[in-house]
Amino acid sequence: MELDSLIVVGAGYVGLVAGTCFSSAGFTVGIVEKNQEKLKTLKTGVCPFYEPGLSELMREGMASGNLTFFSNQEEAMKALNPSFVFCAVGTPENSDGSANLTYVEETIHEAIKVAQKSIYFVIKSTVPVGTGKRLQKLADSKSPGKLMIVNNPEFLREGTAVSDFLRPERVVLGGSDEAVEAVGKLYNSFLLNNRPLIKTDSTSAELGKLAANLLLASRITLVNQVARLAASTGANIRQIEKILQTDSRIGSKYLYSGLGFGGSCFPKDIESFIHICKSLGVDASVAEAIDDFNDTQKLFFIPDIEKEFPAAGQTTISLLGLAFKPETDDIRESPALALAQELSKKGYKLKVYDPKAMDNFKAWAKELKNIEFSSNLEACLKDSNALVIVTEWQEFQRLSPSRLARLYTGKHIYDGKNVLDAKDYKSAGYRYLGVGIQ
Ligand code: UGA
Repeated sequence: MELDSLIVVGAGYVGLVAGTCFSSAGFTVGIVEKNQEKLKTLKTGVCPFYEPGLSELMREGMASGNLTFFSNQEEAMKALNPSFVFCAVGTPENSDGSANLTYVEETIHEAIKVAQKSIYFVIKSTVPVGTGKRLQKLADSKSPGKLMIVNNPEFLREGTAVSDFLRPERVVLGGSDEAVEAVGKLYNSFLLNNRPLIKTDSTSAELGKLAANLLLASRITLVNQVARLAASTGANIRQIEKILQTDSRIGSKYLYSGLGFGGSCFPKDIESFIHICKSLGVDASVAEAIDDFNDTQKLFFIPDIEKEFPAAGQTTISLLGLAFKPETDDIRESPALALAQELSKKGYKLKVYDPKAMDNFKAWAKELKNIEFSSNLEACLKDSNALVIVTEWQEFQRLSPSRLARLYTGKHIYDGKNVLDAKDYKSAGYRYLGVGIQ
């Protein structure tokens, strides 16, 4: 079987990064994107979302002839006759927390219909536990032996997606020995320094992916829980983080307190985990607590803002950072959304700014009242009474008390990511409040 051509269905974060990175490793890759507007952008060598390094790699792939974009799966499969079809389509959340697999199933049906030989069907989309097995049965019932399904969960982070994909800490493949062996070869050049290829069954691969996000989210939530107590006792969460991070049993990563986690992955995967537990009668109380706690963490500053600024209608608050984290323009589940919604509901005037996410936020904020979209940091801070750092962009971390004094006449600083030096700002006369630092 040829190993050199593959198609990726879906040009979202996972699909576009995976396809582009495979093309950079010398494979012939076709990426399928149904959305015509997005496809047009892709064909000009421009990434439709902000992801450092991705447009450059796309253009290299296109120039070398290794990377081509298609508007539909049939066309791509006919053009490339691939041995591998990667499925990276969306699995939107249903209202009950379950994942909607319509697009994944459509991709399978199309693959069965069009493939001229037996192929490996690689599920990159995050899917509910048990999906791989179920879909393998479905595929076998339609056309025995035509599709070998492998679950290949993705662990890349937005903002560092390209380097995460090119240098993964591990690659996880779940499926039959033969299929896992074949798909594993695609990753040979990425797994350097004895980084492992974990070969497992499809159900463990699926649950492993959800578990990784649940565990990471739980660490953030626990440190945020401690931060709340630090705020009430006068302890300093930054110091406590150091105490925790230097314990090798605990480790140093994903222990930064703040306004809670956002993004399209942690919240959705936790919901999905809870939904699966419930459907099987498994106690999901820990996951539920993480989910609930995180929702309220986003509003951590609200009581203090209300106490300090009881006259909401005469108070302007600047939100610095709208993306769910730096180096992305993605605002999905960002703490900025919950905060803006709540402050606007209470009657505060808002000025908002983000280096990359303004367009996405504007589209989301159509219904919000009393909101001004600033085109830079200076405009956002002008004539404002309080500032809240929501996303830790470098631009905000680089502020100093003297520079801030030139831009901002207010005295209140709410540091939602604990990135400013509290001492410096307090000695410059500001009222500083972090999340577990005062
Ligand atoms: C996350 C996982 O880290 C990836 O491994 C996974 O592939 C991805 O979800 C996914 O399932 O697709 P991502 O959502 O891009 O990646 O972002 P992270 O860098 O993990 O951050 C998630 C959220 O946690 C952000 O809002 C971030 O600000 C917050 N966070 C992170 C903290 O509040 N504290 C920390 O110490 C670390």
